[in-house]
Amino acid sequence: MPEFADLPATQYLRGSRHERASVGSWKKPNIVGAPVFKSYPDAPSIALPTVWSPTEERIQPFLQQRRSIRKFSDQPLPFAALAFMLWAAQGVTGRAGEYLFRAAPSAGALYPVETYCAIERVAGVPPGLYHFSVRNFQLERVRYGAFGEHIALACLGQQFMRQAAVNFIWTAVLRRNFQKYGNRGLRYIFLDAGHICQNLLLAAGAVRGGGCPVAAFFDDEINEIVGIDGCEESALYLASVGLKP
Ligand SMILES: Cc1cc2nc3c(=O)[nH]c(=O)nc-3n(C[C@H](O)[C@H](O)[C@H](O)COP(=O)(O)O)c2cc1C
Repeated sequence: MPEFADLPATQYLRGSRHERASVGSWKKPNIVGAPVFKSYPDAPSIALPTVWSPTEERIQPFLQQRRSIRKFSDQPLPFAALAFMLWAAQGVTGRAGEYLFRAAPSAGALYPVETYCAIERVAGVPPGLYHFSVRNFQLERVRYGAFGEHIALACLGQQFMRQAAVNFIWTAVLRRNFQKYGNRGLRYIFLDAGHICQNLLLAAGAVRGGGCPVAAFFDDEINEIVGIDGCEESALYLASVGLKP
């Protein structure tokens, strides 16, 4: 097995980066699309019931109302709301001896994904880039400053990111996963990130907030903002979040 920097998985990550220098000449691949829905018209079908039990009804509104929003209130996000979202995303929810399980599942319980928050407007918290310490349930300030503008530029100029109360950035510490799964681990890392982001967005709905996931970004620029090298640790995914207008 080659060292992890030479794995096809690592090379794929590198080779599929968005780069500012080449994005202007990027062309849609010449690939024929496919219909959004698949069906088996000749198959016998059974209608599904849509009556939910009381416990199902408790979770239903959050799933029903989750929608990507790209407009945010200019009110600050309460600190407790941010804490709830972080807990929902990656908070510790179980223990087996020294081992800590989290709100979102992770392949092999390896938890390769790290959460950073670029805070613009959170009540009582100075703007800055913070790392979520899962073990201590704390924010660790990596650096002071408002990064919304910079992040929006690094995300191909997506303007709504400038208005977010918080831009979350998820990265992966690749070795954590690759030491066990090698190339296949890349699949698991992105799946882990999807679970985490969805938990966070559902939690945002519960605190009168909402947000939008973002995967279009110049990789090197987001890595630079976070202060990671893009090899040992690399940005995967972002979400802009704020209170609903
Ligand atoms: C992996 C992924 C990447 C996305 N990247 C972006 C993005 O860069 N910019 C954006 O505005 N929306 C982005 N979205 C949001 C989608 O556009 C949105 O989920 C889709 O239009 C469906 O709408 P809904 O989320 O409101 O149901 C992304 C969603 C996913 C799941």
